[in-house]
Amino acid sequence: IKIAAIVPAAGIGSRMQVGHPKQYLKIAQHTILEHTLNKLTQLSELNQIVVAVSDSDEYFKTLKLSDKRILAVSGGKERADSVLNALLALNDKQPDWVLVHDAARPLVTVHDMQKLITQCVADNEGGILASKVKDTIKRGESHSLQTVPRGKLWQALTPQFFPYQALKSALQQALKNGVAITDEASAMEWAQHPVKLISGRSDNIKITTPEDYDLACFLISKQQE
Ligand code: C5P
Repeated sequence: IKIAAIVPAAGIGSRMQVGHPKQYLKIAQHTILEHTLNKLTQLSELNQIVVAVSDSDEYFKTLKLSDKRILAVSGGKERADSVLNALLALNDKQPDWVLVHDAARPLVTVHDMQKLITQCVADNEGGILASKVKDTIKRGESHSLQTVPRGKLWQALTPQFFPYQALKSALQQALKNGVAITDEASAMEWAQHPVKLISGRSDNIKITTPEDYDLACFLISKQQE
């Protein structure tokens, strides 16, 4: 089977409040994006790794990336547009499956990615890494109106792994219909495709705020021990 990875990396990272996109912040001598790509290149299952970068990105070309499977394409306005652009770039050599993974999640383990791929391929159903919600969840604005039962709540992580054709048409249709899509699974759910929840490590955090960055520095140093 042919599997391509897609790495949306075209965000500006405004919530990080630094002068450049957060995927280019350094942790232990390497940018966050390099750490993330280093995890993906360890997967021999991948035929191609497509990175969606912004047209105004000046940093990507300065990275030293030796893996021949890596290809850069233009990102889009929202994360879903970036993923769709990468899917369309694969039109000429369509894979069977795609593994979409945020540039901002360098802490994913190779083990968790392989578990996701193996279980989805075995059952012939798409799925995502997710972790069970541990906190008590409140709904409200200035005051809590309700405590949401957490028994069936999961936090969606990436990678998210889906059949190429089904994901491409689900994203196209969902974008056309103005559906709010913050991950691939939301488009697949909307298009009524199955989305398996595969339990993954909760320290596979998305680096969004300065606090996340501090935590990621600690976690990466621990992974490198
Ligand atoms: O903004 P957020 O942290 O949710 O972004 C998740 C991932 O999507 C990041 O890796 C970011 O670079 C990427 N992204 C993108 N294109 C956009 C917006 C975000 O590829 N237009």
